[in-house]
Amino acid sequence: TNKKQIAVLAGDYIGPEIMSAGLKVLEAVSKNNQFDYEINAVPFGGAAIDETGDPLPDSTLEACKNSDAVLLAAVGGPKWDHAVKRPEQGLLEIRKDLNLFANIRPTVISSATKEYSPIKITDPVDFVIVRELTSGIYFGQPREKTSTMAIDTMRYTANEIERVAKVAFEMASHRRNHVTLVDKANVLATSKFWREITEGVAKNYPEVEYDTSYVDTASMKIISSPAQFDVILTENLFGDILSDEAAQITGSLGTIPSMSKGKTGPALYEPIHGSAPDIAGKKIADPISMIKSVAMMLENSFGRGDMAIQINQAIDEVYKKGILTPDLGGSSSTEEVTNLIIKSIQESSEDYVTNNV
Ligand code: NAD
Ligand code: IPM
Ligand code: MN
Repeated sequence: TNKKQIAVLAGDYIGPEIMSAGLKVLEAVSKNNQFDYEINAVPFGGAAIDETGDPLPDSTLEACKNSDAVLLAAVGGPKWDHAVKRPEQGLLEIRKDLNLFANIRPTVISSATKEYSPIKITDPVDFVIVRELTSGIYFGQPREKTSTMAIDTMRYTANEIERVAKVAFEMASHRRNHVTLVDKANVLATSKFWREITEGVAKNYPEVEYDTSYVDTASMKIISSPAQFDVILTENLFGDILSDEAAQITGSLGTIPSMSKGKTGPALYEPIHGSAPDIAGKKIADPISMIKSVAMMLENSFGRGDMAIQINQAIDEVYKKGILTPDLGGSSSTEEVTNLIIKSIQESSEDYVTNNV
C-alpha cells in the first residue's frame, strides 16, 4: 500500500487538545491533494504511565519505528512530577532510541505577524535553531544525587558534534549561507571541542559564512537583532533555552513547531512547548504549533511542500483576521482557530479547482 503510516502520540494536558486540531487539519488538506495516510495513535508520557506504568511502552516505540513519521504533541505535568519514571524521561528515550540527533526549531517573523512580536521588528526575521538532541548534559554520565551533592555531566564525542554540524551547514547552504555556532567556549571544554570540530565541517562549505557567539551574548542578540541570524547551531541545553526565547519574539511559544531527525528512519514532529497544565481543559490552547508541525511533516517526510504551503497560508489568514487564542492576544478558542484554518484551506483548493476548469 502507498498509504503513509503516521504514529500519533497525543500525550498529556493540552497534548490531546492540540493533536486533535492538527489531525483535523491534516484530514482537510489531504482530501484535495491525493495524500493517503493511516494514523496509529499510541499511548505516551503520563497517559502511558497511567495505562502501563511506563511513559514509553515497548509497543509505542515499536509503532514509531514502524511508521513513516511520528507526530507528538506534549507530555508531562504535575500529576506525574513524582513518578518513579517521569513522562519527560520517555521523551528523552524516544529521541535517543530513534537516534533523532538534530532538532530543527524555526523562528519566523513576517510582515503579516510582526505586530504580534513583543519587540520592535524592522527587518524580516527568519532563522532556525539546530539543536543537538541526543547527547550533552541531558545524557552524560555520571549523573548522581545524594543528600550532600549532585552531579550532571556535559559530554560530547567528535562524531556527535560532526553529524549535527553537517545538518546545520547543509541547511544553511539552502538558505542564506550563514551558520552561527553558539557556545560557552570562554569557559567550557565541551564548547572548545565544538569549535574545533565545527571548524572542520565548515571547511567543506566554503560558500557558507561561519561565525561563533557566546551563549549569553546570543541570548541578547535574539532580542536586539534577530534578523542577523540564519542558522544557529548549538548543543542540547543551550538549544532548549534559546528556542523558547526565540519562540516568544514571534508572539507566542504556542505557535512554534519542530522536526527531529537522524540519518535514517522516521523523523518526529512536535511543538517546542510543553503540556501547558495551566491552561489545559480551558479550550484555549493555541493549535498553531501542532498544525505547523503537521505542515513540517508533510514537507520534510513526505515531499509535500505544496500541502505545507496551503496550511501556512491558511495560518496567515487567521493572523490577518485576528481569530487567535489568548496567548496571541485574541479571544478565540482552539476550535475556532482550527475551523477557520480548515475553512481557508478548503476555499483555497476551491479557487484552485475553479481556476483550472
Ligand atoms: P510549557 O511550555 O508547557 O508552558 C509554558 C507557558 O506557555 C505556559 O504559560 C503555557 O500556558 C504557555 N503555552 C505553551 N504552549 C501553549 C499553547 N499551545 N497555547 C497557549 N499557551 C501555551 O512549559 P512548562 O509549564 O514549564 O511545562 C509544563 C510541562 O510540560 C512540564 O511537565 C514540562 O516538563 C513539560 N514539557 C514537555 C515538553 C514536550 O513534551 N516536548 C516540552 C516542554 C515542557
Ligand atoms: C523540549 C522540552 C524537553 C527538553 C523536556 C520536557 C525534557 O523542554 O522539548 O524543549 O528539555 O528537551
Ligand atoms: Mn524546552
